[in-house]
Amino acid sequence: MILRDLEDRDVPEVAALDRLINRKSWSEAQFFEELRLGSLCRIAMEPAGAIIGYLLARPLTDEWHLLTLGVAPTHRGAGVASALTGELIRHAVATHARIVLLEVRASNQAARKLYLKLGFIPIGRRKNYYSGPQGTEDAIVMSSPIR
Ligand SMILES: CC(C)(COP(=O)(O)OP(=O)(O)OC[C@H]1O[C@@H](n2cnc3c(N)ncnc32)[C@H](O)[C@@H]1OP(=O)(O)O)[C@@H](O)C(=O)NCCC(=O)NCCS
Repeated sequence: MILRDLEDRDVPEVAALDRLINRKSWSEAQFFEELRLGSLCRIAMEPAGAIIGYLLARPLTDEWHLLTLGVAPTHRGAGVASALTGELIRHAVATHARIVLLEVRASNQAARKLYLKLGFIPIGRRKNYYSGPQGTEDAIVMSSPIR
């Protein structure tokens, strides 16, 4: 697996992967906006060159906020999300951040287990944070203090 920064030329492929993965997918414009803002935008690629995962996170004072993370269904269970999230933690350490924060759907057991395994701690719940045709869903807020 190769990890590298997202570049403008990758945006159509990443946005297509996000549409495959997420109920509330991002537009290409949203990915371009994060690149313009200088957010942390990392992708995982297989050796043949296809993008198999992505992570975007934005700094806010001394915090990093995980905005989105996804792994291609064909490449799950192989440590791709762990590698991408590990990069965010290392980046938070390198930029002297105090904390990394994220929200995750209460029903998303795979992601909640991933974050717990990586040392994130549940610190709260945002009621009805997600909304869609199937109704609303709470978000669990998780944090990883950076020492
Ligand atoms: C959640 C997601 C990012 C995990 O990606 P992944 O590359 O398969 O995760 P990893 O291989 O790094 O898994 C690391 C750990 O996470 C947990 N985990 C991952 N997938 C899991 C699953 N389906 N069920 C239970 N635990 C799971 C396990 O603890 C796993 O460790 P283990 O392999 O030793 O059991 C991926 O399933 C995904 O893209 N889901 C849809 C989008 C999403 O939910 N994004 C997160 C939004 S907050």
